[in-house]
Amino acid sequence: MSEMSKVAVLAGATGNLGSLIAQALLDKPGVQLRLLVRPQSVTKVAALRERGVEVVEIDLDRQDQDELLNEAMHGAFVVISALQGGPDVMIDAQRRLLEAARRAGVRRFIPSYFSYNIFGLGEGENLNSDILRTFARVADEARGDVEVVQIQIGAFLDRRILFGFLGAFDLDARQAFLWGDGTAEMDFTTYADTARFTAEAAVDEEALPSVLAFAGDTLDFHQLVKAYEGASGHSVTVSRMGTLADLDDEIQRRRQTEPDNLFDWLPLMYWRAMLSGKAKLHAIANDRYPHIEPVTVADYVRNEGL
Ligand SMILES: NC(=O)c1ccc[n+]([C@@H]2O[C@H](COP(=O)([O-])OP(=O)(O)OC[C@H]3O[C@@H](n4cnc5c(N)ncnc54)[C@H](OP(=O)(O)O)[C@@H]3O)[C@@H](O)[C@H]2O)c1
Repeated sequence: MSEMSKVAVLAGATGNLGSLIAQALLDKPGVQLRLLVRPQSVTKVAALRERGVEVVEIDLDRQDQDELLNEAMHGAFVVISALQGGPDVMIDAQRRLLEAARRAGVRRFIPSYFSYNIFGLGEGENLNSDILRTFARVADEARGDVEVVQIQIGAFLDRRILFGFLGAFDLDARQAFLWGDGTAEMDFTTYADTARFTAEAAVDEEALPSVLAFAGDTLDFHQLVKAYEGASGHSVTVSRMGTLADLDDEIQRRRQTEPDNLFDWLPLMYWRAMLSGKAKLHAIANDRYPHIEPVTVADYVRNEGL
């Protein structure tokens, strides 16, 4: 390790976002990457291991891993989490990571948020955002001198989320789904740009604010549809589904009908948070890292041939 290099510890490197963060960190000179991977998943990082990336096998679900965690944090400048899961992961496992970072005198912790403005929502409006806000409170209490930085990016602009999970579009049917009047601004950022911004923030020498927001694009619903149409050359039929109050009722109805079928109603909670403007990002800080020119919705649609 050179004198100038920084050790970055990353949990969640086997995931969609985490693998891109690992790559973005490797692309930066002077970063020494150390991955925390659970034993059953180490084969997923075989290629990174071959490239010399350090891999620590650890089960973050277990509470008796302090010694191993202490070792894993040794000499680290930053700990980044791209974990995904329920409260056991997002609150308990991430708390263990933060406490270990604190014990080891790590400068910065970037927990796994990578969401929209979760603080704009009330309790119960999105179950996952509730979990993230709970972790934000836990982190505030447990952080000590660790700089905890929440990265917010809106919704992932990619096929998997904006053009998939969210239920905003049905590209096969060339349809988009509007609740309310569609005039609230919404933020979108690709997984890859999120990873690049995260890698920059991770090793930034300057003190960072507790919330750091980035966005590849900011558009209201009508601009979003126009961006898709212009870049794809396809016209889209907008289905006007009702008011935002109707959307509340629809979510309620679906939850009551199929409480265990999260995929039936959870995406609508995200779409509601965005369409209502409650989840809008504040103080977007793209210019902090001006060499990153994030992909817009139109760029993405054109590049991907959607
Ligand atoms: N803004 C948006 O539109 C949006 C959309 C989706 C996700 N997100 C956020 O992006 C972040 C990453 O999501 P993703 O889609 O990249 O997730 P993902 O692909 O599902 O990856 C999840 C990662 O967490 C690890 N993990 C899960 N449970 C674990 C446990 N009990 N112990 C240790 N590791 C565990 C997985 O490891 P294994 O390989 O061992 O399973 C994997 O590395 C999350 O914060 C998520 O909320 C945001």
